[in-house]
Amino acid sequence: MRYKRMPIEIESPEQIGYGTIDCNLAESSVSDAVLGKLDINLGELVLCYGHHLGKPELRELIASESKGISADDVLLTAGAAAALFVISTSLLEKEDHVIVMRPNYATNIETPKAIGCEISYLDLNFENGFRPDIGKLRGLVKANTRFISITCPHNPTGVLLNRNEIQQIIDIAEENKIYLVVDETYRDLTFANKLPLAASLSDRAISVSSVSKAYGLPGIRMGWLITKDKSLQELFLAAKEQIYLCNSVVDEEIAYHYLLKKEMFIQEIRTHIDLNFSVLENWMTLHSKLEWVRPAGGVVCFPRIRKNAGIDIEKYYKILNSTYATFPGPGHWFEMDDSYMRIGFGWPKAAEFRRGLDHIDSALALSVLLK
Ligand SMILES: Cc1ncc(COP(=O)(O)O)c(C=O)c1O
Repeated sequence: MRYKRMPIEIESPEQIGYGTIDCNLAESSVSDAVLGKLDINLGELVLCYGHHLGKPELRELIASESKGISADDVLLTAGAAAALFVISTSLLEKEDHVIVMRPNYATNIETPKAIGCEISYLDLNFENGFRPDIGKLRGLVKANTRFISITCPHNPTGVLLNRNEIQQIIDIAEENKIYLVVDETYRDLTFANKLPLAASLSDRAISVSSVSKAYGLPGIRMGWLITKDKSLQELFLAAKEQIYLCNSVVDEEIAYHYLLKKEMFIQEIRTHIDLNFSVLENWMTLHSKLEWVRPAGGVVCFPRIRKNAGIDIEKYYKILNSTYATFPGPGHWFEMDDSYMRIGFGWPKAAEFRRGLDHIDSALALSVLLK
């Protein structure tokens, strides 16, 4: 493995220091939850090694959400990040080929890169509404392709595939006897028409998710992968056991009690997201210097500075970061140019969010190139 740190992690708010940021528009999750407010008593918890697949009751709960999925199909992992790592390192060797959607959450691209295998990108572009070209995807499959990796709802664009598009991609995986990995970390934040779990639709599909993004629990590092394929289940468990045996029982316990009551928590989360999203939508609709593809799920969008707006992009970020202490996620976090920026609308409080958008306007106004 050739590990390399990713810009999205080096420049992340937690690395810069939350205290130095006035408006944090860089987060891709909802507001972080506070343990005390969850009303969970951990006093009697035995700090033993946990079940290697993960706490059975938690796996039952996750499986119960989808027809055709059982607790044994679920492998708990240290966040979705560890699930993605387990999958890539289990399925890919140097001589293999993988097809990855781009832009994407960086790990989906970086782990195959660190393995040193061949990568083809399924590039999404603004002009096409960030929707995948399925005909092109079909043409990317080779004899040594092991899997296709997509994220839905998508990070950083918030675009949601429809049922027909997902089915076509599953068909490609099945016809070619390869796997389809669907990073569904934002699935519970779909605005409307939530897709079925990909793993419930085909033995060739592997679903990945976590409690980090939709529920604001990234600090407990709790995620999972789901597959109905028995040989993959064995392979992924072997990988997990070799990396870290089992999850933290504390994390599992918190996630379990949270998910038992998630309908209660999600109402408040949705109200907050809806409020910020309506502010964002009004702001974007009238914007003369920015354009976007309206997201259909998740808590991020990926607008870009209009080409004809005449903005000095380097200056814009300098002013936005230094003068206004405001941080969206710049395009280079996603291997795109910095005229794109990811704006997270789920994490900041309403006042911080509005102020952040005002700061973007001010920084843009101060960065207009002189003719
Ligand atoms: C699409 C996607 N997948 C996976 C992750 C990793 O999340 P975690 O490991 O906290 O579950 C992230 C984090 O930003 C993400 O955006």
